[in-house]
Amino acid sequence: MIKTKIAGIGKYLPSKIVTNAELSKMMDTTDEWIVERTGIHERRHAEKHTETTTTLAAHATKQACERAGISVNDIDFIIFATLSPDYYFPGCGVLLQRELGITNTECGALDIRNQCSGFIYGLSVADQFIKSGMYKNILLVGSEMHSMGLDFTTRGRTVSVIFGDGAGAVILQPTQEDNQGVLTTHLHSDGTHAEELAMINPGSHGGRHLGTEQFGYPDPSVWGEVFVTQKMFDDALFYPNMNGQLVFKTAVTKFPEVIMEALNKTGHTPADIDMLIPHQANLRISQFVQKVLRLPDEKVYNNIQKYGNTTAASIPIALCEAWENGLVKSGDLVCLAAFGSGFTWGSALLRWV
Ligand code: ACO
Repeated sequence: MIKTKIAGIGKYLPSKIVTNAELSKMMDTTDEWIVERTGIHERRHAEKHTETTTTLAAHATKQACERAGISVNDIDFIIFATLSPDYYFPGCGVLLQRELGITNTECGALDIRNQCSGFIYGLSVADQFIKSGMYKNILLVGSEMHSMGLDFTTRGRTVSVIFGDGAGAVILQPTQEDNQGVLTTHLHSDGTHAEELAMINPGSHGGRHLGTEQFGYPDPSVWGEVFVTQKMFDDALFYPNMNGQLVFKTAVTKFPEVIMEALNKTGHTPADIDMLIPHQANLRISQFVQKVLRLPDEKVYNNIQKYGNTTAASIPIALCEAWENGLVKSGDLVCLAAFGSGFTWGSALLRWV
């Protein structure tokens, strides 16, 4: 039976480190507040004007290809997950194809807009393509350049201290080996709270979904009849909005649920997990999930302390780093899980190659 294996993995973090102390010079916050509530000590910010979400992805991709022993022209399908694309359209998939110099036009490019769960959604889609025999070398990349879209004033402090820039990539190939590859993937969504973790402007909504006081503009007419309005700029309505407490409460329920779903489907228990790589949303969320599943520290990998929340890139970056540090080994049962904007959430279980 054909399964999907990770044949190569890579990551790229911009060199510029931004500490909590540096953020506290831009806004009313403190190192103590950020560390206590999120676990984050520092994050990376890409170099504006020279680096973009696509160029970060290109670095991670080249490393993943090298480790898989393939050239970029061997890639037959690109899946790109991000919430901070270079352009509203076209998506980053084709920009990455061009950036890498891929001349093979047989190679398709698909963009995924699932925010924090984008990597898991992408893995599930790639898994179906590989199992069906359609593709042999799928590039799945998660990349984010949040630093271009955050409000670094006190007004935006709840959100802007959390997020960081970076990229992670994997090359997915078919395998017939029993003891390796993706065992199962599980995807979920619930749009009830779509606006509770969202960047809604600019957009074509025209106020349609905002018939409440939530955004302070109950009258749809203030949104105008075009994609971008002056009001969006005047009132700085183009920054992300996050109901942190609702996100936190829902995440700590959904993470264990979706991990148990993957374990139950494959006849495993939490004790069988060798390494859990949770989406790096907030260290307190990861610690809560660890406690519920009764996993020891060495079976949960966290690096949010150094990189912040890199959304679609956080799982491949953490998986890559854990593997580079020898913490993920051949035959290990690895569990990936994510929850985020949408809300969407998901999990995957795999045997490491
Ligand atoms: N520095 C200092 N004070 C702050 C900051 C800051 N950066 N941000 C908010 N505050 C203040 C608030 O204004 C508030 O002050 P008040 O009591 O005077 O009104 C106080 O701190 C407490 O604010 P809360 O929002 O209640 O703080 P909370 O304990 O909920 O922590 C946080 C906020 C960290 C955002 C938390 O809710 C959280 O982690 N939620 C999950 C968010 C998350 O993980 N998002 C990402 C996942 S999804 C994805 O990856 C896209």
